[in-house]
This record gives sequence, structure tokens and C-alpha cells, in this order.
Amino acid sequence: MNVTTRLNGKPFSFDAAPGERLVDVLRDHGFMGTKFGCGTGECGACVVLLDGEPVNSCLVLAPRVEGRSILTIEGLGTPAAPHPLQEEFADAGAVQCGFCTPGMVLSAHALLLRNPSPNRQEVAAALDGNLCRCTGYVKIVDAVMAAAARRREEARP
Ligand code: FES
Ligand code: FES
Repeated sequence: MNVTTRLNGKPFSFDAAPGERLVDVLRDHGFMGTKFGCGTGECGACVVLLDGEPVNSCLVLAPRVEGRSILTIEGLGTPAAPHPLQEEFADAGAVQCGFCTPGMVLSAHALLLRNPSPNRQEVAAALDGNLCRCTGYVKIVDAVMAAAARRREEARP
């Protein structure tokens, strides 16, 4: 079936088989920042935002996103114009192999949209569906806290 969405702020249509997963559609169309890890909803590597909410795209059937708005990491920032969260992840040393990073950043972005002043426990809770084998999480939470502080600072009149 043909599915019409908005992806990273632009119209995006694709053909999907009934059981096809959103993660596969995205990667097949070149959005390789959406990683494929476990395939069973446990690692968070495939997180994208669907109408602003983080979802594991390996668990989302592609035909079900008709009319929805999808944000992938490519829509948040680019190497030439990184999002502040991406800059803070890099500055904090929160990126090692990088496999978890797009999902982490998108989950953190969704958190900061709904809660601009989270404490460390709230950041950890927002990221508890995103697994990282490399960093031990402290630097990731540091990065999100720094991005939140920067966001508040930049919002000042
Ligand atoms: S690949 Fe989707 S949660 Fe692991
Ligand atoms: S940086 Fe390697 S899995 Fe998180």
C-alpha cells in the first residue's frame, strides 16, 4: 500500500508491504541514522519520533504511519549543522562507537520538548529504553543536562 507521511518536515510517501517495519523503510530510503539492533524493542537503537513521541521503529508497522509525522536523526541535525544535543554529546565524551547515539539523542530531544528542566533521574528515566554498551551512561546524562542548560540559556530574552 502507498503510505503518505511527513518525514523530517517534508512530505514523504512510500510503498509498504503489510508486515513491513518502519525501521526497514527508513533505512531502505537512505535514513541510515536509524540503527537496527535487536529488532525486538529492547535496545532503542531504532528510536524515531512519531508525532513527537519516541517509538522503537522496529516495532512499528510501516502501513500504520499513514498521516503521521516522523523525525529521524537526519532531521534533527547534520554534521555541518549539528543540533545542540549532538554537540553536547560530542563534548561530554558521550559518543564512543556511536551505535546508540541517534536513538539516545532523539529520546533526549523528546524529553527536553516536554520538560526543559529535567533532573538527572528524569533524564535517566527518559533514556531507560536506550541501551549503550560503551559509555556507562554518566556522560550521556551529563550531555543531556548540558544541552538542557544551554537550551534554557539560549531561550532567555
Ligand atoms: S532495533 Fe528496535 S529496539 Fe532494538
Ligand atoms: S556509544 Fe557504543 S553503544 Fe553507545
